[in-house]
Amino acid sequence: MVRALGLAQLTMIGVGAIIGAGIFSLAGAVARDTAGPAVLISFLIAGIASLFAAFAYAEFAGMVPRAGSSYTYCAAVLGEVVGWIVGWDLLLEYTAIVAAVAIGMSGYVGFLLDSFGIRIPAWALGAPGTGTGHRVDLVAVLICLAVAWLLTRGTRASARVETVLTAVKIAIVLVIVIVGFTKVDMANLHPFAPFGVSGAFAGASTVFFAVFGYDALSTAAEESVDAQRQLPKAMLLALGISMTLYVLATIVLTGIQRYTDINAASGFSSAFATVGLNGLANVIAVGAVIGITTVTFSFMMGASRIGYALSRDGLLPKGFSRLHPRRKIPARATWTIGVVSAAVAGVFPIGEVAELINIGVLMAFVLVSGAVVVLRRTKPDLKRTFRCPAVPVIPILSILFSVWLMVYLDWQTWVRMGAWLVIGLIMYTTYGYRNSRRINPGGSVEWEKETV
Ligand code: ALA
Repeated sequence: MVRALGLAQLTMIGVGAIIGAGIFSLAGAVARDTAGPAVLISFLIAGIASLFAAFAYAEFAGMVPRAGSSYTYCAAVLGEVVGWIVGWDLLLEYTAIVAAVAIGMSGYVGFLLDSFGIRIPAWALGAPGTGTGHRVDLVAVLICLAVAWLLTRGTRASARVETVLTAVKIAIVLVIVIVGFTKVDMANLHPFAPFGVSGAFAGASTVFFAVFGYDALSTAAEESVDAQRQLPKAMLLALGISMTLYVLATIVLTGIQRYTDINAASGFSSAFATVGLNGLANVIAVGAVIGITTVTFSFMMGASRIGYALSRDGLLPKGFSRLHPRRKIPARATWTIGVVSAAVAGVFPIGEVAELINIGVLMAFVLVSGAVVVLRRTKPDLKRTFRCPAVPVIPILSILFSVWLMVYLDWQTWVRMGAWLVIGLIMYTTYGYRNSRRINPGGSVEWEKETV
């Protein structure tokens, strides 16, 4: 592969995977139902939790500049079983992220069609329970299948296309912020926390969805000019840029209209339409759809690559790592993920899917942060181009913050996650354990030999 990506492009890829449905869709839903204007605090709490974990991810990215993300890190440090659990967990998460982001896009597509006088029938407008007559979110289903189709065609969005799309997305958020601030009515920001402090915390466990995605950057490691030095920097920069934009955008969202009037499906577009800026509302909807596309691509590709890696290591059936003879793409893995994400996107509300994702990502954060501390003790001499500051304080804070946010999630989310892990453990004992290539005998792995 050509090593062509510098710091600026890597940062753009990071922002491309971070900013998505979290700000465009979930922020509105959380402001209206859970936190009020204090959704701003929810974002700050989630951002801090994510920052602590980002230091741990950055240390690994500087040490293991390889695709495979947390699965590789944890398998290498904590052993095959923990690696499998993280891999299995991420397979669910990444697939569900594609679904959640597609639902987010569907809200803005609906807004656009509506403004051109095209009405989708009520049964196809959303998941059951999200509105009168809703049966299935047809647009979200079609988006998932379309992305799978494009990825199996080999139409991998090149870094340049991705950079352009991300630039469009950043520009849209900047327009939202700059124009939006002129329309903010301070009266709308009072009361600031109508659901109390606990509302802001509960909101943080949902909008946490908005603040991850930098882990997807590790997939660009093998195409980066100087991955070991630049990946850690790019991760932290991408998170910093996204957080700054989030804070400003949430003030606009809850400042333009009362939080009770926010339209959760097409938050920003509807907000601008209520203050008479209809043209701009449409532009924002187009920008949101274009911008969010990058997230769908990153995560569907991420999911198929994790399925591919698990299968190649013998932990999942071989079919998942079979490449299309000509296009050299894990086609079967991609289609499986496309169909599953479409099914989820069709019948679940975005909030429920996001919670399921968050619990899984938070679990990965706990394990990756723990792995940094363990590896500092067991392999103090490994070459680390980026060192997480104040070990073990920061990783421990990361673990505590993550567990704390997990506590705020619904009990149903815990049950769903538990069920997925039990299935995973059954898979491991009946299949993975017997077929594993034992990539990690005695705790030593290939990359370690290369990097020491
Ligand atoms: N952080 C990504 C988003 O908000 C997953 O869509």
